[in-house]
Amino acid sequence: MSEIKALGYLGFSVSDTEKWRDYAENVLGVAVSEADNGDLVLRIDSYAWRIKLAKADHDQLDYVGWEVSDKVALEQLKARLSEAGTAWEDGGKALADERLVKELIVFNDPDGTRCEAFFGPLQKTNKAFVSPQGFRFITGEQGLGHIVLVTQDHAAQEAFYNELLGFKVSDYINTEVVPGKPLSITFLRCNGRHHSLALAPVPIPAKVAHIMLQVDNIDDVGRAMDKAEKTGCHFSFTLGRHSNDEMLSFYTMSPSGFDVEFGWGAIEVDDDTWHVKTHDVNSAWGHKFQFPPRKKK
Ligand SMILES: [Fe+2]
Repeated sequence: MSEIKALGYLGFSVSDTEKWRDYAENVLGVAVSEADNGDLVLRIDSYAWRIKLAKADHDQLDYVGWEVSDKVALEQLKARLSEAGTAWEDGGKALADERLVKELIVFNDPDGTRCEAFFGPLQKTNKAFVSPQGFRFITGEQGLGHIVLVTQDHAAQEAFYNELLGFKVSDYINTEVVPGKPLSITFLRCNGRHHSLALAPVPIPAKVAHIMLQVDNIDDVGRAMDKAEKTGCHFSFTLGRHSNDEMLSFYTMSPSGFDVEFGWGAIEVDDDTWHVKTHDVNSAWGHKFQFPPRKKK
């Protein structure tokens, strides 16, 4: 079993923090604060932060933070990585202070995505999370949500997360999101959330296809949709219900170009009874893919 308990945090470089602030507050309904250097810090629960958007002249995924339960688990993970010949580094005190965690290590997955494994994230119980839209997010033991990484070497990525890090495969979807372009996606879990990570060999240069936030109320999906429409967001996938985790959701394109899935109602996986499945459709209904609008020259 994996030492990794949940998706803890995400870090991105973003080129338009103003657009991001508007999108994060008014569509996603997350709490946004601005650091002294102009970076944006996003909260969705008691954690001091969940997503950091560093002000930059480009847009990219910088790091994925995986939470382990304690120091013992972190030590076990270090040993496991060393045994497999995977290089890792101690994050050190300065980085731990920056991330507001007790300790962390840093390593890369086979595609070169920077992973950080940490324990002891700061909780802000004295400053309750308040959503500007009144949303409540499903987090806790299920972590912040999920991330879908675009794979270059899919087999190596799957082996790394499944066999080395100990994520469990929940299922596979073999489908054509874009007609004529077959795609086989692997869904992996490290807690009751159906997947904290999915691996998709989409032929695009980006590292991340989408991230997902889950609310506890179906009407808030509708409210977020209304806001997205009103603010002129591009809907990458229309409202739909996924075949595997049964999430009712829609996808909008973030100001950085990757999508954010906003959903409700996903199943929780019971390790004792779950068995790996294969699906040949992405969704039971809906989730119609829509090409992004062409950029004006
Ligand atoms: Fe998703």
